Amino acid sequence: MKILVLHGPNLNLLGTREPEIYGSMTLADINKRLIETGKEHQAEVICKQSNHEGVLIDALHEARTWAGGVILNPGAYTHTSIALRDAISAIQIPVIEVHLSNVYAREEFRHVSMISAVCKGKILGFGWRSYLLGLRALIEMLTNP
Ligand code: DQA
Repeated sequence: MKILVLHGPNLNLLGTREPEIYGSMTLADINKRLIETGKEHQAEVICKQSNHEGVLIDALHEARTWAGGVILNPGAYTHTSIALRDAISAIQIPVIEVHLSNVYAREEFRHVSMISAVCKGKILGFGWRSYLLGLRALIEMLTNP
C-alpha cells in the first residue's frame, strides 16, 4: 500500500512559522513520524510539499497512478482553490483533508473549505497529530474497505 502525503503552501516553514498556532515540529519531523507510522502498518508513505497550486494539482493527478489514497493539507488553498477541488474529484482515490489548526476557531475566511465536500473525510485541530490521525484512518479504510 502506498500513500501520498501532500503539504501545501507555507508548510515548509513549520517549526518557525507562527509556532503558537502551528506548533514547533518541523515538516521534516512530521514526515519522519508519518513514514514510521506507515511502516508499522505495512504502508509506504511518500511526502511532498509545494507552494504552487499547479504543482499540487500535478501531484494529485500522478497519485492516481500509484497511490491508494492521499493525506492533503492544502494550506490557504483550502479556502480558495476550485482547481484543487476539481483535481480531487477527478482522481478516483480517497483524499483526507487535514489541518494542524482548528480553522473554525480562527478568522471567518478560514471557515470555508473548497475541498471538504469532495474529500472522504477531514481531521483538524490536533496539531501535527492531525496528520497521524488522518493517516491511520486512511490505512484502516484501505485495509478494511
Ligand atoms: C492550515 C490552515 C490554513 O487556514 C492556513 O492557511 C495554513 C495551514 C492548517 O494546517 O491549520 O496554511 O491548513
